[in-house]
Amino acid sequence: MNQQLDLKSKNFYSSISNSFDSSSTFIDNMKLPVHRWFRFSAGFSAQWVETIINHFKDQRETIVLDPFAGSGTTLLVSEKLGVQCFGIEAHPFVARIARSKLLYQTDVDDYLKHITKVIKRAENLQACIDTYPKLIHQCFSISSLESLDRFRQAWEELADDSSQSQLVWLTLVSILRHVSYAGTAPWQYILPNKKKQSFLEPMSAFRLMSEIIATDIRIVGKMAASTATLIQSDARTCQGIPDNFANLVITSPPYANNYDYADATRLEMCFMKEISGWSDLQSTVRQYLIRSCSQHVTNKNVNFDEILASPELDPLKPSIIATCHQLFQERNLHGGKKNYHLMIACYFLDMSRVWTALRRVCKTPATVCFVIGDSAPYGVYIPVIEWMATLAEAAGFTSFEFEKIRDRNVKWKNRKHRVPLCEGRLWVRG
Ligand SMILES: C[S@@+](CC[C@H](N)C(=O)[O-])C[C@H]1O[C@@H](n2cnc3c(N)ncnc32)[C@H](O)[C@@H]1O
Repeated sequence: MNQQLDLKSKNFYSSISNSFDSSSTFIDNMKLPVHRWFRFSAGFSAQWVETIINHFKDQRETIVLDPFAGSGTTLLVSEKLGVQCFGIEAHPFVARIARSKLLYQTDVDDYLKHITKVIKRAENLQACIDTYPKLIHQCFSISSLESLDRFRQAWEELADDSSQSQLVWLTLVSILRHVSYAGTAPWQYILPNKKKQSFLEPMSAFRLMSEIIATDIRIVGKMAASTATLIQSDARTCQGIPDNFANLVITSPPYANNYDYADATRLEMCFMKEISGWSDLQSTVRQYLIRSCSQHVTNKNVNFDEILASPELDPLKPSIIATCHQLFQERNLHGGKKNYHLMIACYFLDMSRVWTALRRVCKTPATVCFVIGDSAPYGVYIPVIEWMATLAEAAGFTSFEFEKIRDRNVKWKNRKHRVPLCEGRLWVRG
């Protein structure tokens, strides 16, 4: 790298977002209209995104891109500020959540009429719960499941391509965790063996959620600018985004930390009968995503030597080869035999493609902000931030700065390894 990456620097960019130590978390979004319609644990802070966009838009005309749009945080903030924005999301279910949230300009009376129609139709339907996957039976009481099933059938019977129909879909999928007596892990995986103390009855949850959505439509719907578009596509190609389009990228890619985005929506997808269980996740979701979890990569679908030989990884060689071989050695020392060596090789190959695609769709100059963390599978430290900056430079960007938000993995109790990690914002320009 031409420019040494100073991992401790606190200068230009810290002055913009200094007070946002929680910028990498979704928690505060649960208090914000529209953002709160679906809890997406992997999301980042809308208020932080607002500060960043405001800063740039005061200086020049700003066009935003979020290549890992998730539940639509950057898109919603861009609309609030009247700034043009494209978002890309590859997870079909998460993309549908984001697209549905962007329908907050729907006429509130039309939405409420559709809610009433679904409730009325549900009252006259016979529940049929035998065909639900096992996971669903483990997560709901029989009476709750019967009631939810009637809502699902009624929604399906009345479904059309109107925005109110789509919002009623969102209303239904967003109450499932509240109605389930199964716990949810911090990373949103459903835990059927962990029972919650309190949960809601389906009708109350459905009515409550529809009131929240109606309230938010009334608050923000009128102010909307319709400047944001969500494309279900792939950040590795940025297909659908014009060349030289954006001058500000705000995003958070999947971390190389084994979080399985496909599994995060297993409950909802099973309930909507889009999948019948875990084994369907690879074909319906994972195959479209950045390879950031070991479940995604097997000896059958990945050839280790071929991946490491890819010219796209040249900027990281020889370090990445040595690290992946070390992970392969470690694998034999652990019971789980996880394919971290394949995951890391594939992750950086995918990210190399992302940076090349970003160079194509970004103007020169552009500013790119990645909220990102490093990782240490099997205790082997992966210099994610440094490698990410190296790939950005190889793609044609020119300067870097890393703004640390917080340390991770420093409370050693019950940890699998003791490698200190951090999370922060990688700012790339050029
Ligand atoms: C950290 S989350 C982003 C969350 C987002 N900032 C929000 O506030 O909701 C990363 C997202 O990248 C998506 N993703 C993974 N692989 C992708 C790909 N190849 N192209 C586009 N999106 C992808 C995941 O499904 C996930 O929603």
